[in-house]
Amino acid sequence: MSLKTTISSENLPSHIAIIMDGNGRWAKEKGFMRIFGHENGTKSVRTTVESCAELGVKHLTLYAFSTENWNRPKLEVKTLMQLLISSLKKEIKTLQENNIQLNAIGDLKTLPEKVYKELLHVIDETKENSRMTLTLALSYGSRDELINAMKLISDKVKNNIISVENIDETLINQHLYTQNLPDVDLLIRTSGEKRISNFLLWQIAYAELYFTDVYWPDFTNENLYEAIINYQKRERRFGKTSEQLN
Ligand code: FPP
Repeated sequence: MSLKTTISSENLPSHIAIIMDGNGRWAKEKGFMRIFGHENGTKSVRTTVESCAELGVKHLTLYAFSTENWNRPKLEVKTLMQLLISSLKKEIKTLQENNIQLNAIGDLKTLPEKVYKELLHVIDETKENSRMTLTLALSYGSRDELINAMKLISDKVKNNIISVENIDETLINQHLYTQNLPDVDLLIRTSGEKRISNFLLWQIAYAELYFTDVYWPDFTNENLYEAIINYQKRERRFGKTSEQLN
């Protein structure tokens, strides 16, 4: 019996973020080139997106390419960018059929023009979709995002658009790449690494963290359900005591 039946629809994480890790090791252990792992990783992206939408998760954010990933071998970066273009072209139909809106966060202007254009095209085509938002973090780094927000806010203070007293959580949220997204409820990282790696540092303030040893290309729907069931067993206190919550 699938674990899906034990998921309660009442306490679903509204925003799931995933650090999709282990593509390279998955491929290497099978004697293949790293890029074969990324190719197989796209299959897990597809099943995870579909499962989240089916369950009723409202926001899914995937760490697809970090600011640090630019330092990887040129051929790997190039192939990853090609994979992105082909996935976007191929999956636009699935996004439309499932009423999913595509969104992207990161320093998008640094992406190759072809990727950037395809991305904007799919974002525009899916902008009316309302069942779930799929956000791809591309050329994304949380510190870069925070620096960018601080610069935008400082500029507004300098030009007397706002005063220092106006700076609060809401204002900072409005200047992050994730401005239209709620905080993360559940952060999943695959492949056994227990790090955050510069991902959504501000947005995970109260997120539940879930680490699994499964490599991303092996990540199945059942693994996703396991993570959600684990999340549903936890008590989220947001700084309060158990008694206060009850
Ligand atoms: C981490 O594995 C994975 C990435 C840096 C890229 C993730 C990209 C995909 C799954 C494919 C394209 C994505 C979309 C959204 C279509 P790693 O290479 O760091 O693995 P390792 O730690 O084993 O070396």
